[in-house]
Amino acid sequence: MRILKPSPAAILKAAQALRAGQLVVIPTETVYGLAADATNPEAVRKIFAAKQRPSDNPLIVHISDLAQLEAVAGAIPDSAKKLMKRFWPGPLTLVLPKKTSVPEEVTAGLDTVAVRMPSHPVALEVIQVAGTPLAAPSANRFMRLSPTRAENVERAIADQAEMILDGGPCKIGLESTVLDCTEEVPRILRPGGITRANIQAALGYPLGEVPASGERRSPGMYGRHYAPLTPLVLVEQVGGDDAGLIFGNTQNSNQISMPPSAAAYSAVLYDALHRLDQRKVSTIYVQMPPETAEWEAVLDRLRKAAEK
Ligand code: TXA
Ligand code: MG
Repeated sequence: MRILKPSPAAILKAAQALRAGQLVVIPTETVYGLAADATNPEAVRKIFAAKQRPSDNPLIVHISDLAQLEAVAGAIPDSAKKLMKRFWPGPLTLVLPKKTSVPEEVTAGLDTVAVRMPSHPVALEVIQVAGTPLAAPSANRFMRLSPTRAENVERAIADQAEMILDGGPCKIGLESTVLDCTEEVPRILRPGGITRANIQAALGYPLGEVPASGERRSPGMYGRHYAPLTPLVLVEQVGGDDAGLIFGNTQNSNQISMPPSAAAYSAVLYDALHRLDQRKVSTIYVQMPPETAEWEAVLDRLRKAAEK
């Protein structure tokens, strides 16, 4: 596996590989992404093959400037314009009406496209030098943990990519917030780095709710997801002999003490689960974080990981 420091030469190489239709693992502020040229259907198909991802699960298009937005999205609503101004570059993905030039491989045949401008300097530079928007899902196999460090990218993914650019540990650590902006009132399809409260404050009104059943608006909203290989159970208290994630002092070497704030917890969650996975413990017990709005994204990921 080729993990490269993101020197100007390595970034140029990555950009060239992407232009040639190959895959590159890039760092973002949320999680590492498995990137391909979003304008090249054949390159995008390689992402689905490498991840063993169902083809009905659309990808996020990553841009480095607003000129690229015009090439992928049409009729941008005022709400989306406001949010871009406030939160881009950053961990907010906006679902917008798509332009016909976006390959259907990227959007899984939908008439909308998910777009975000990442804030990680290496991601921005790669997109800029490649001169094309990049389609990039998290760099994990379908249903597995997203990598938040270059060395946590599984071999099965790494082998399909030209290289991994090492941008250090991801600062946010959970995938971006996905916000549907195609309806009158925007709604969160996936909670993430930018909270509901952040978005509502920027818009000045409450967000809509996604109906629990009915049409599956975000095809990525499966039950079980983001899961370690080891069974994960959410509990009020982790037993003294059990392995898992706890608040406060650890009672054995298979416990990891987690930070008390939601942002700091998010930043280390996937790496902590990855580490326990590697120790081959039989069950990972996770002490339930506070059930408050701040913790929405963390609770979403933990509940999905705990799903049978
Ligand atoms: O933080 C992130 O968003 C990371 C980094 C690499 O940018 N990427 C990521 O991609 O998490 P992925 O493919 O693992 O998740 C994309 C999510 C899925 O839940 C997918 O269903 C949703 O975005 N999505 C993509 N296009 C959509 C669309 N047109 N309409 C609704 N949901 C969409
Ligand atoms: Mg993913």
